[in-house]
Amino acid sequence: MWDKKTLQELIKEKFTDYKFIVVSNRQPYSFEYAGRKIKCVKTIGGLVTAIDPVMQTAGGVWVAYSSGDADMSIVDENNTVKVPPEKNLYLEKLVFLSKEEENGYYYGYANQALWPLCHIAYRQPVFNNAFWEHYKTANKKFAESVVELFDEQKPFIWLQDYHLTLCAKYIKEKNPNAIISLFWHIPWPNPEVFRICPQKLEILEGLLSNDLLGFHIKYHCHNFLSTCESELEAKVDWEESAVTYKGHKTQVKDFPISVDFEQMSEMASAEDVTKKVEDLPSEIDPPYEILALSIDRVDYTKGIVEKIRAVDRFLEKYPQYQKKFIFFQKGALSRLHIKTYKNLIDEIQSVAEEVNWKYRSGNWYPIVLLNSKIDYTTHLALYRACDLCLVGSLHDGMNLVAKEFISANVDLKGMLLLSKFTGAARELKEAVLINPYDIDSVADAIKLAIEMPSDEKKERIKKMRENIQENNIYKWAGKFINNLVKI
Ligand code: G6P
Repeated sequence: MWDKKTLQELIKEKFTDYKFIVVSNRQPYSFEYAGRKIKCVKTIGGLVTAIDPVMQTAGGVWVAYSSGDADMSIVDENNTVKVPPEKNLYLEKLVFLSKEEENGYYYGYANQALWPLCHIAYRQPVFNNAFWEHYKTANKKFAESVVELFDEQKPFIWLQDYHLTLCAKYIKEKNPNAIISLFWHIPWPNPEVFRICPQKLEILEGLLSNDLLGFHIKYHCHNFLSTCESELEAKVDWEESAVTYKGHKTQVKDFPISVDFEQMSEMASAEDVTKKVEDLPSEIDPPYEILALSIDRVDYTKGIVEKIRAVDRFLEKYPQYQKKFIFFQKGALSRLHIKTYKNLIDEIQSVAEEVNWKYRSGNWYPIVLLNSKIDYTTHLALYRACDLCLVGSLHDGMNLVAKEFISANVDLKGMLLLSKFTGAARELKEAVLINPYDIDSVADAIKLAIEMPSDEKKERIKKMRENIQENNIYKWAGKFINNLVKI
């Protein structure tokens, strides 16, 4: 069984001579002004949820883009700051980008071209040359920031995600011997989808400068290998799952990402969380007997509108649940400068209002939307208090909310409704699997989960808990590092 200690030992054994450097767009901790004071905020999202425990265990440096308005006044002359506050377990090194660069690289190329291209959620990618130029500049800046860290220790660099496809190439131009890997946190599409990307060759070349490329599931590895085969004059070794391009070999492998099961379980069992579970019914506005929960970043890939439509259908088809059932959708807002995301917020709001108007009775209404931040105790209490947790992604690399919910489900009470189109569905087979596009069948699945005998629920949740306990975040990191060492 992998845990913090085994990972620490592995890193000590294999990496004494190495400097461990993680690079991602999103910083794990940002510093923000609250009046005249500065507060430290931990970032929301799958990537930080997964990598922060690894960094807290491994130590090293995490290079990321600065998005906090007070970051500049916190960092030292090398643009670094020790995090997490008080624990000081690793260094965060910040890359500062101009507004224009941020707009072109992050809001533009990463999130309007690559994000919709890789997720099959039927939003057309926007390819724009100005976005691409800024994307290249930003990748160069990340690479420079990494290169500044080089000293007599050999670097071991772990890039994260679709924001940094060109980074390995730029780093290797400065230091060809650096060992570089990249983990791709979102799906990789099939070659038919990828071939429309005007910058496809540069992106593939950039990615193939890594020594190891990780995806969540075998299917994404397969898609990537097929893409290389059809787009490049590269040697694809299917047996070995590797691509050789211009004399350099990149190993391609699946590493299903996970969560810190033990920590989540332990924190969810804490006294303050138990107390909060008892208090929740009086704190949530409409009265209810059955609580369905979703926690998502507000993104069109998460299928939030589709879930509200399914709840509407459920209440229509099974009116006995009216005045008893509520759907609590907690959303975290991001990428707000992109019009599609702004429009999505309006759409969610208006569909929720429509459904609430349709069913409202006295002080009861079925849809509760909350976009403001909640503290972690409430977050965990919601997981424990809900009768079902709905993960309705239209397409998702993994989806860590599903794994978090099961880890926090210490009472073996709530059931998981999980979209078939998430990476998590390949592991959490005991969940009630749904097709989020098929509103009617989701309505039936909600009923099935509510009415499932508690013994059956317990059995299923237990199995999923055992699975996540074994395949936890430390195993994910350990396997990744072991593979890199082999290379
Ligand atoms: C996904 C991506 C991550 C990203 C996260 C939050 O999980 O794979 O790279 O950090 O979403 O999105 P944001 O754009 O707010 O960083």
